[in-house]
Amino acid sequence: MRGMVLSVFLIALVAATCAVAQKKPPTSAVEGRDWWKRAVFYEIYPRSFSDSNGDGIGDLNGITSKLDYLKELGVDAIWITPCFPSPQVDFGYDVSDYENIDPMYGTLADFDRLASEAKKRNIRIILDFVVNHTSDQHPWFLDSRSSRTSAHRDWYIWRDGKGPGQPPNNWVSGFGGSAWKFDPTTNQYYYHYFYAQQPDLNWRNPAVQEAMFDVTRFWYKRGVAGFRLDAVDTLFEDPNLTDNPILRPGKTAFGDPIEQNKYNTKLPEVHDVLRGLRKIADEHDAVLIGETWTADVAELNQYYGEGNNELQLPMDFLFTMVNKLSPAEFRKQIAEVNAASGWPTFVISNHDIVRSYDRYGDGKHNDQIAKLMAALYLTLRGTPIMYYGEEIGMKTTPPTRKEDVQDPIGRTGWPKEKGRDGERTPMQWNGSANAGFTTGKPWLPVPSTYETHNVAAESKNPDSVLHFYERVLRLRHANPALLYGNYTPINEDNLKVLSYLRLYRNRGVVVVLNMATTPQKVALDLEPHGFTSAKKLFSTGISAAHGSEVSLPPYGVFIGELGK
Ligand code: NOJ
Repeated sequence: MRGMVLSVFLIALVAATCAVAQKKPPTSAVEGRDWWKRAVFYEIYPRSFSDSNGDGIGDLNGITSKLDYLKELGVDAIWITPCFPSPQVDFGYDVSDYENIDPMYGTLADFDRLASEAKKRNIRIILDFVVNHTSDQHPWFLDSRSSRTSAHRDWYIWRDGKGPGQPPNNWVSGFGGSAWKFDPTTNQYYYHYFYAQQPDLNWRNPAVQEAMFDVTRFWYKRGVAGFRLDAVDTLFEDPNLTDNPILRPGKTAFGDPIEQNKYNTKLPEVHDVLRGLRKIADEHDAVLIGETWTADVAELNQYYGEGNNELQLPMDFLFTMVNKLSPAEFRKQIAEVNAASGWPTFVISNHDIVRSYDRYGDGKHNDQIAKLMAALYLTLRGTPIMYYGEEIGMKTTPPTRKEDVQDPIGRTGWPKEKGRDGERTPMQWNGSANAGFTTGKPWLPVPSTYETHNVAAESKNPDSVLHFYERVLRLRHANPALLYGNYTPINEDNLKVLSYLRLYRNRGVVVVLNMATTPQKVALDLEPHGFTSAKKLFSTGISAAHGSEVSLPPYGVFIGELGK
């Protein structure tokens, strides 16, 4: 009897294994490990995503309530910008406790529920780790500033001024004014790359390293699948405090000299920290995404680390700087990042930059262009990170009056710098009051486009930006060439249409993107790659293929399966 039960069990096990084996795509180095290469990430700015308690500010329970939407859309991982206790001077990027949830967003129990609900849907959670600085209200800093001999004094960067009323050197804060603040309690200055309420940690102190490494362990134990590392460039400063050179004459939007941040950013010691964080991440099969503003791909390569032992996904912001629909410029940037030493990471929008909808939109064909941009970065070789609202064509809506500005840099920099409120407006869920984001008064006004651009309306419209995103993402997840294939540009002399192949194991996909305002016909150069035709997988407008010839309407998209 026992034998029979065992053999039935074994047969069932073998059958189940075969079923799994049949379903799985064939494995290769890229396919096997490294879930983050296959995943589509989605950035959530929690204040603005979904408000469950009517206080006008989004929260964790709001995110949990939208997990089905995210699953349906095709999202595999969500990156939540800081949701930890914070005085909210920089809307969470000033953390006063790394191991808790800000009451405005909920509780640790809410986080655990979000994590377990996300897990049920196979959605991973990435948290935002603010590594460079804490809030000035963090207990470490409160102790640090209390006396020159306090236990945490050396956890931050304290120095004497050059003379009465003179900071230690000429470094300016990225958010305006001197990067040094005088503290009368101990008659010394402390250093802050960002706001004065965001004092920089002293990463040269091993106790700081250990405490911060422990923070990641705390969240890994709670089921987090990785971190987006904030402002990694700024972790270390020259201990001699050498003055920065002046880059060029003139003033920043904040009225400061324009400096080259030679002695307070991108110091080589950053990489020791990244290697340390990666070691812990690897113990948890986790991913590290970097906020890496690099000057070129050589610099980006440094963030992967020699032997790929630092960040798996340093963001390629150079891609976001191709700020016009120029096939030649995209081709150049894609080729460069494609030849980088690690896996590319593409973003087109985030909470600090003008939304892609406006950066590329011409005011007349914005929805069409939003689809074109989606087709581009969701079909490239690399991991895409979406930004909430991009999938419904949300536009940037900056404040028009200084008194309405929420982001402090918008107040100090007004009118040249209006701050980042415009790209952080509430998610547009439906056509009801406040776009269904809150039943209270939203912390930022809802753009008027919510009437046409919202999830409910776009779900019903097969031609919507939202439907387009869903279709590309479905295709991306199901098509091995789009997931694992190499990137091969074709028709490289065409100045209006960007075309490339994704080739994988004798099969492939062609992506053809008309970046011009006029219809285009392209004879695709497929033969050198062993193909003769392209069969439509999907397209926009009346795009069509005859053999290897593709016709596209203005800003049209064609994605086809290659045939021999
Ligand atoms: C980069 C974040 O994306 C930004 O929003 C924040 O203000 C700064 N880092 C400072 O943490």
